[in-house]
Amino acid sequence: MTKEPFISKEALEVITAAFPTPFHLYDEKGIREKARALYQAFSWNKGFKEYFAVKATPTPAILKILQEEGCGVDCATDVEVMMSEKLGFKDIMFTSNDTQGSEFVYAREVGAIINLDAYEHIAFLKEVAGIPEAVCLRYNPGGVFSLGTDIMDHPEESKFGMTKEQLLQGYRELKELGVKEFGLHAFLASNTVTNDYYPTLARQLFELALEIREQTGVTLDFINLSGGIGVNYRPEQEANDIAVIGEGVRKAYEEVLTPAGMGEVKIYTELGRFMLAPHGHLVTKVLHRKETYRTYIGVDASAANLMRPAFYGAYHHITNISRPDAPLEVVDVVGSLCENNDKFAVQRDLPQAEVGDTLVIHDAGAHGFSMGYNYNGRLRSAEILLQEDGSARMIRRAEKPEDYFATLYGFDFEK
Ligand SMILES: Cc1ncc(COP(=O)(O)O)c(C=O)c1O
Repeated sequence: MTKEPFISKEALEVITAAFPTPFHLYDEKGIREKARALYQAFSWNKGFKEYFAVKATPTPAILKILQEEGCGVDCATDVEVMMSEKLGFKDIMFTSNDTQGSEFVYAREVGAIINLDAYEHIAFLKEVAGIPEAVCLRYNPGGVFSLGTDIMDHPEESKFGMTKEQLLQGYRELKELGVKEFGLHAFLASNTVTNDYYPTLARQLFELALEIREQTGVTLDFINLSGGIGVNYRPEQEANDIAVIGEGVRKAYEEVLTPAGMGEVKIYTELGRFMLAPHGHLVTKVLHRKETYRTYIGVDASAANLMRPAFYGAYHHITNISRPDAPLEVVDVVGSLCENNDKFAVQRDLPQAEVGDTLVIHDAGAHGFSMGYNYNGRLRSAEILLQEDGSARMIRRAEKPEDYFATLYGFDFEK
């Protein structure tokens, strides 16, 4: 089973002739189509909005595309808020944790909706920044989150969110403090490759919304289903179908909220991976072949460009676009970092690669570039946008050594 790159060999050759590898390449057409499909799937809900998770792909040109498609942004830090503000976003959600007081002050200044991770943050927010008119609370039900017999994740082990008792008490206190607009948020499982995650989560949150109203007198204005819709990193996995997911959420909404007179509740999402991962490739060239106890294909990208395989052992499909039909061999595809986990593929069947071949590492458009780091003095790569008209535009240059040295004192790079 295989995955097809979103760009042809010939078109990619034009781009690699103009921009040195490694680089991240994004597909504008795919991103726009994805955003439209999401909005279509939730068009039954009047106030629906996607607050794109900036952490997934904090790149202004990409955020601008999403803005044009009607998305807001979800930010985790003041710096992400700063970028979003400069890009003219009006709809900003601030979902942070272990937050600094100055970040709450700034989030309030720009009019972001504050999503509180902890019950204790109500008092903290009141003290440092005052309580705004709109506040959202992040829920953690504890236990395990399962779909039928499949355990999807372990909320009880998660540092995020607050217990139900804290949530109810929180709404009571916020009401007393004059809050007018209330939200509920939960992120209970990551990278779910099933159409059932959102509908199951939504039903739980909708039922909780009724309980909140009953116990506290607070009627929620919005429910934020957060991120967690995954992508089929492996070619044998079936991609999620957002139309089916949207329909599943609608059914739960109409069965739980509408009959309870809560048919005005807005649904928000905070997707990152689902929106962007498949629409980004990490493009890299083969530098070396090495034969020892295994065959190693050394490429010019490393975990500094895409950390997920090294960090989580995550699978990312690889296409040798120069030589897709060569006979297969079993190889490890490795970067240059002085870490033995700097491997994009381990004991994988790939077409026999030669030095100079171009490899496409799939599904790198979210939590890819953004998780990059500078270990070994490796510099972050460029980002290139494949525009709808087929032309390529650099949207972030590669780091230079002077960027790496820029924060040092007592070291003059120019000397
Ligand atoms: C608060 C929050 N919202 C949304 C997301 C996006 O998740 P995903 O990229 O899995 O959709 C994340 C990811 O870590 C997150 O922490």
